[in-house]
Amino acid sequence: MKITIDTSTNSRTIELKKPVCTHQHVRTEATLELVVPMIARRFRAAIIMPNLKPPVTTFTHLEQYKEIIHRANTTGHLFTPMMTLYLTDNLNPGEVDLCGHHAVKYYPRGLTTNSADGVENPQALWSKGSKPHQVLRLLASTGKVLILHAADGFAREGVIVRGTQYHADEELDPYDQEPHFMRETLPRIIDAHPELKIEVAHLSTKEGAEFMQKNGGKRLGCSITCHHLLNDRRDVMRGGFRPHLDWRPVIQPKDNTQALQELCFSGHPFVWLGMDSAPHPRKVKEAACCATGVLTAHAGIELYAEAFETFGALDQRFENFASNNAANFYGLADTDTTITLVNKPWKVRGSYLSGNPDEEIIPYRLGEEVLWRLVE
Ligand code: NCD
Ligand code: ZN
Repeated sequence: MKITIDTSTNSRTIELKKPVCTHQHVRTEATLELVVPMIARRFRAAIIMPNLKPPVTTFTHLEQYKEIIHRANTTGHLFTPMMTLYLTDNLNPGEVDLCGHHAVKYYPRGLTTNSADGVENPQALWSKGSKPHQVLRLLASTGKVLILHAADGFAREGVIVRGTQYHADEELDPYDQEPHFMRETLPRIIDAHPELKIEVAHLSTKEGAEFMQKNGGKRLGCSITCHHLLNDRRDVMRGGFRPHLDWRPVIQPKDNTQALQELCFSGHPFVWLGMDSAPHPRKVKEAACCATGVLTAHAGIELYAEAFETFGALDQRFENFASNNAANFYGLADTDTTITLVNKPWKVRGSYLSGNPDEEIIPYRLGEEVLWRLVE
């Protein structure tokens, strides 16, 4: 990574190895055509989430989807979509086997967008004989990665999470879902599948950060989003609930954001970039029950540069987090391709796909500034 300072204009330019994003929702049709070029300009590869309707659960579907993504990359940039299969209670291990080096994504049923087909009871992950258990064994034996949406919907037994007592099977508060998963579910998965490579996606809590500090390494890593680094719950609630800052996992209170910042900026090799850019049409965000997820891909790498700069970590730690750590974990080839960023603020001016009221998307930071700019 190279930082150049022009003292006459006080502008700074960063050249860094082209990054990798481990978490993108590109959807289908017009949204896909909008989002894929945004990603291809900023990332040399990105992991594509499988929570379509219906979810991607077969090799055939995965290959078709990959082809559509390739065709939507009209930028002329080389871009590798890293495809994933959606783990259901019935996902056929044979399909996983067919899918070469690709990963599998775990969704807890009912806890996020299009998760109705997710695993109903996490116990299936360590119960011998279940389909999910077979899938995890296959992943472990072939060196493929299980990506976790690390949340539980229900308390395992009489547990106290963050001071709240829950009885067995009681619904958990959304702010307690990841802490419960970190204590009750992730250790059991690791015990049952010690050889399995696991990525905890979009780590969002201090309990998650603590778990990673202790256990992160060659087989266990995590991604962190820019919204979890740049925001805390006050931003989501300021003046009223803000649907365009609503994701799962939820953005937590300040002490959690600080724990994530500390983990992220300590330069661990098992922590990397994963945006969880998750566009939804405006009409389903501004609705009686707001769809969770927001578009961030329009400023994908710029927002991370802003976070690293704010916390004095805009040095080799930034390039490792953005370009090297996930590439090493997922076994991607190194690259000579670079991107360039300059610290010239720009305003996110408009919504996307605004010609069609059914598709219009409100991006993260609409009407506000982003401090770094991609040089194209
Ligand atoms: C994602 C989506 O919209 O598909 N939403 C979100 O809030 N993150 C699903 C997910 O990754 O949980
Ligand atoms: Zn996601």
